Amino acid sequence: MACLVRLCLLLVLVSPALSELCNPADKRALLRLKKDLNNPYLLASWNPNTDCCDWYTVTCDSKTHRIVSLTIFDSTARSNFSAQIPPSIANLPYLQTLEFHKLPNLTGPLQPAIAKLTHLTFLRISWTNLSGSVPSFLAQLKNLTFLDLSFNNLSGTIPPSLSQLSNLNALHLDRNHLTGSIPESFGYFKSSPDLYLSHNNLSGHIPHSLNNLNLTSIDLSRNNLEGDASVLFGSNKTVQIVDLSRNHELAFNLSKVVFPSSLTSLDLNHNKVYGGLPQQLTELNLQYLNVSYNRLCGQIPVGGKLQSFDIYSYLHNKCLCGSPLPPCK
Ligand SMILES: *[C@@H]1O[C@H](CO)[C@@H](O)[C@H](O)[C@H]1NC(C)=O
Ligand SMILES: *[C@@H]1O[C@H](CO)[C@@H](O)[C@H](O)[C@H]1NC(C)=O
Ligand SMILES: *[C@@H]1O[C@H](CO)[C@@H](O)[C@H](O)[C@H]1NC(C)=O
Ligand SMILES: *[C@@H]1O[C@H](CO)[C@@H](O)[C@H](O)[C@H]1NC(C)=O
Ligand SMILES: *[C@@H]1O[C@H](CO)[C@@H](O)[C@H](O)[C@H]1NC(C)=O
Ligand SMILES: *[C@@H]1O[C@H](CO)[C@@H](O)[C@H](O)[C@H]1NC(C)=O
Ligand SMILES: *[C@@H]1O[C@H](CO)[C@@H](O)[C@H](O)[C@H]1NC(C)=O
Ligand SMILES: *[C@@H]1O[C@H](CO)[C@@H](O)[C@H](O)[C@H]1NC(C)=O
Ligand SMILES: *[C@@H]1O[C@H](CO)[C@@H](O)[C@H](O)[C@H]1NC(C)=O
Ligand SMILES: *[C@@H]1O[C@H](CO)[C@@H](O)[C@H](O)[C@H]1NC(C)=O
Repeated sequence: MACLVRLCLLLVLVSPALSELCNPADKRALLRLKKDLNNPYLLASWNPNTDCCDWYTVTCDSKTHRIVSLTIFDSTARSNFSAQIPPSIANLPYLQTLEFHKLPNLTGPLQPAIAKLTHLTFLRISWTNLSGSVPSFLAQLKNLTFLDLSFNNLSGTIPPSLSQLSNLNALHLDRNHLTGSIPESFGYFKSSPDLYLSHNNLSGHIPHSLNNLNLTSIDLSRNNLEGDASVLFGSNKTVQIVDLSRNHELAFNLSKVVFPSSLTSLDLNHNKVYGGLPQQLTELNLQYLNVSYNRLCGQIPVGGKLQSFDIYSYLHNKCLCGSPLPPCK
C-alpha cells in the first residue's frame, strides 16, 4: 500500500497533466492572452507545464473548473506591463470577474470583445490609461452588478444605454475626461446604483428623472453642472452621501429643500447655492457638512451637529452668520 501511494505520488510528479483541473481550452486561452499582453512579468507564474487553476491572478470555479475570475493588478504600478486589452480576452467565456487595476501602460480603447463575456458580474478597469469613449456595448453585459472605469483617460459622452444594466449596484466613471450631460435615462436604472461621476467635464442640468432613484451615494463633484440639484433630496429618499462640490454653477434655493433623514454627508462647496440653511438640518445625524463658497444667507440654525463643524464648513457665503461664524448683526 505504502508503495502504491509512492507510485501515485511519482506519477503525479512526473506528469502533472494527470491531476490537472484546468480546462484545456481555458489554458490555451490564457497562454494566448499572456502572449498578446507581451509576456508581462506579472504573469510569470503562467507556466504551461502547471495546472492553470493554480496560476496567479486567476480563479477556477470549484465545480466546473472553468476560469471565472481574472484580476491583473499591480499595487506598485511599476511593473513592465505595457499593452492593450487584446480581443483574445473573449476566449475566456465563463469569466464573472474581470479586473485590470493600476497599470499605467495599459492603453487603447475598451476592447469590444468584452461584450461577449456575458457572465460578467464585476468589471473594473481603473487606474490605467485606457482611452476612447465609454462604449455603449457595455449595456449588453446584463448581469453586471459593479462597473468601475474610474481613473482612466476616457473621453466623449456617457452612453444612455448603460441604464439598461438592471442589476447594477455601483457605477464608477469618475476621474476621466467625459463631456456632455448626465443621461436622462439614468433616472430609470431598475437597481438605483450609486453614481460616481466626479472629476470629469460633465455639463448641463442634473436630469429631473434622477428623482426616481433610491440610491445611497452620489458624487457629481468637480464637473461643470448647472442649475437645480434639489431633485436629489426629498423626505422619501434614501441617500446618505451627496457630493456636488466644485461645479461652480449649481444654483438653487436651499431653504426650499427637504432633506431625507438618511443623509449623513453633504458637500456643496464652490457653487451658487442661495437661500438659507433649513432648520431641519438640526434634526439630521450629519457627519460631514460643507456649504462654503456659495451665496447662502441668514442664521445658521442652532442645534444638532451644526455647531460641531468648524468655520471652514460655512465660510465665503453672501451673509451666513451665527455660531460657529460670528454672531448675526
Ligand atoms: C517584462 O519582463 C519580463 C521578465 O523580465 C520579460 O520576459 C518580458 O519580455 C518583459 N515584457 C515587456 C513588455 O517588456
Ligand atoms: C510606461 O511606458 C513608458 C514609455 O513607453 C515608459 O517610459 C515607462 O517606464 C513605462 N512605465 C511602466 C510602469 O511600465
Ligand atoms: C497615464 O500615463 C501618464 C503618462 O504616460 C502617467 O503620468 C499617468 O500616471 C498614467 N495614468 C494612470 C492612471 O496610471
Ligand atoms: C445572470 O444571472 C442570473 C441570476 O443569477 C443567472 O441565472 C444567469 O445564468 C446569468 N446569466 C449569465 C449569462 O451568466
Ligand atoms: C489620453 O487620450 C488622449 C486623447 O483623448 C491621447 O491624445 C493621449 O495620448 C492619451 N494619453 C495616454 C497616456 O494614453
Ligand atoms: C470643459 O467643457 C467646457 C465646455 O463645456 C470647455 O469650455 C472647457 O474647456 C472644458 N474643460 C476641460 C478641462 O476640458
Ligand atoms: C418621492 O416623492 C416624489 C413626489 O411625491 C415622487 O415623485 C418620487 O417618485 C418619490 N421618489 C421615490 C424614490 O419614492
Ligand atoms: C424606491 O423606493 C420606494 C419606496 O421604498 C419604492 O416605492 C420605489 O419603487 C423605489 N424606486 C426604485 C427605482 O427602486
Ligand atoms: C428661498 O426660499 C425661501 C422659502 O421658500 C423664500 O422665503 C426665499 O425668499 C427664497 N430665497 C430666494 C433668494 O429666492
Ligand atoms: C470645505 O470646503 C472648503 C473649500 O474646498 C475647504 O477649504 C474646507 O476645508 C472644507 N471644509 C471641511 C470641513 O472639509
